Parts: sequence; structure tokens; C-alpha cells
Amino acid sequence: MKNLVGQPIELIDTPVPLIHLDALERNIAKMSKTIINEARVGWRPHTKSMKNPDLVQLCLDAGAHGITCAKLGEAEVMAAAGIKDILVANEVVGATKISRLVKLCEKADVKVCVDSIDNVRQIDRAAAATGVRPRVLIEVDVGMGRAGVKPGQPAVALANEISGLSNIELAGLQTWESHTLTIVDQSEKKRQILAALSLLTESADQIRQAGISLDIISCGGTGTYWISAFAPGITEVEAGGGIYGCGRYRRDFGVDLEPALTILTTVTSRPDANRIICDFLAVEWLSHSSLPQNMVRFFSPKTIRHLAQVNRLNLCRGIQMQLSSCMIIFMALELDAWRLCGQLSEEESYNN
Ligand SMILES: Cc1ncc(COP(=O)(O)O)c(C=O)c1O
Repeated sequence: MKNLVGQPIELIDTPVPLIHLDALERNIAKMSKTIINEARVGWRPHTKSMKNPDLVQLCLDAGAHGITCAKLGEAEVMAAAGIKDILVANEVVGATKISRLVKLCEKADVKVCVDSIDNVRQIDRAAAATGVRPRVLIEVDVGMGRAGVKPGQPAVALANEISGLSNIELAGLQTWESHTLTIVDQSEKKRQILAALSLLTESADQIRQAGISLDIISCGGTGTYWISAFAPGITEVEAGGGIYGCGRYRRDFGVDLEPALTILTTVTSRPDANRIICDFLAVEWLSHSSLPQNMVRFFSPKTIRHLAQVNRLNLCRGIQMQLSSCMIIFMALELDAWRLCGQLSEEESYNN
């Protein structure tokens, strides 16, 4: 891969994700400034869309104190790369995975979310046989409706149970207020985020009143970070995928970041004017309803014309996307791409 750096884009074989480093670094700087400098809380970017420790390192260099992983396997990759402060923001369940978790705690400060006393007891028992004392965060469901205990009394009850165990330590509370992501009206979005997060921080207050200390109150994501970071009582924000400034984040979640990731793909067939087959998951592309407004920014019409001429039958294009934990999600496919392709086919007659 390294030998491709500095080469003309048309020499790169497709399909390939391309990162616009200047834009990526500006996004990282902006997220860091908002969260760390302005809101004065910690930044623990979610790495489910990065996967790559080199990208994670750019966030750490910009001030992130730790990272959030969606699953244990990702945490293992990050710990192997030397990253120390890791939150697995999901429940790790079952003897095999719990034993991997405890082993990983020997290498790094790995914290894991819990929402059930049975799971907590299993982690506690597995840790008893080792020298490590895994730290856990109680996941609280403040409205998303995924995992987590309810705020208030259920969170306090679980905290009490955990504090009675000797091989495990309660480090804090965690939530993801994702039910607020798509609220268009910014003042309503702010109101709902703050209301959701107050359920988390009030639960923290009740747990502290019971004499149990909590260091970490973790929340937020790219689609809420500029509001969540300023919520009273939270200590860190998990926004991560925003470093790419994906179209869906900007269009549907109101995120003000620049597009920084494209997929370069080649049109492998153009059977008729309305159908484009690419070497990049054409089926999902065609079945997806929304489209990329930004590709022209990355590949100017001049560049695309040039690529079309060079490749004769091929048209290279950028498609914005986000890589998620187990599949590729198209984040933005805009009509402009289709129009542009239509224009090119007329102007350049590349499809004959
Ligand atoms: C626990 C948790 N925190 C935060 C996020 C937000 O991640 P991102 O900033 O990449 O959108 C997610 C997204 O799935 C999540 O599951």
C-alpha cells in the first residue's frame, strides 16, 4: 500500500477506499477542539469505522485519551498495537470471550459495559484466577432501546451488586443517546439529548449518594457530540466515525464535518443508460436510496473525464461510505453521480 502514496490516482487498482488526509485531519482537529478544548471533557473516539490503529493514533495524537470499541476482537487489535485505554461499549458474554477479556486486561486498561449481574459475576469469577481486576461500566438505556439497564433504581441496584464483588471494579456509567440522531430541529435535538443524558447523570448522582464512586460517565457519538459534550456531569464523548465526515452524518444527523473518505471504483458494465455496474458492491449500491453529493469535490469533472479517457470503458468515481463492524454501509449515494455519469456518457461516449 505504501508504494501507492504519491502515485497518480488512475494507477490505483479498484475497488479501494481513499482517505483525503487533509480533510480527515481537519475533522479530527475540529472534533478534538469542540470536545476537549471547548467542552473540557475527554474524547474516547469510537473506532468501529476506523479499524486501523494508524487512524486511531491520529485521534490520540490530537488529544483523545482513549478509544471505544464495539467488540472484543477490535479491542484485541488495538491493544496489540499498543493502545492502552480501551472501552468495549457492549456486553462481553460467555466463558470463551470472558476469558479473552480477562487476558486482555493484563495488557491494557480495558473496560467493558455490563447490564446484568450474572454477566458481572462471571467476569468476577474469571478474574479471580488472575491478578487483574477488570473495570466495568454499567450501560444505561436512556432512550435508544438497545442494551442497558433502565436509569435510576435498576442502575443503582446493579452498582450496589458490583461494589460487593472483589475481583471487578465499577468504573462508571455508559450510554449512547442515538435515538436523538435524526432530530432535525437543533433546539429540539439539544433538548432531547440533554434530557436523555440527565437520566444518566442523575443515576450517577444516586449511585454516588450510595457511597460508590464513579470516574467515567461516557456517552455521545458523532451525530450528537457538539451537544452531548456540553451536557453537565458527563466526563467523555465517544464520537469517532465523524473523522470521515460521511454524507449521512452531515445530511441526516446535522454534522458539520468535511467528507474525507471515498471509495474509488470502476464501472465494469453499462448495459443501458440507467444502470451502472461497478466493481464495488453494485447490488447494495443499486438497492440503496440515497446518493453522493460530494464526489465531484474529490474527482473534478476534468479528472473524471481524464480517467474516462485513460480507461476508455471505465469510469472511476468516489462513493462515500462508512465501514462498520461487520459490513460495509453506504452512507451517501447522491443523484449527482448518476447525472454525472449520464453527462459523461453523452460527452465522452465512453460506453461504446
Ligand atoms: C456505544 C456507541 N457509542 C457511540 C457511537 C457513535 O459512533 P460514531 O461516532 O462512530 O457514530 C456508537 C455507534 O454505533 C455506539 O454504538
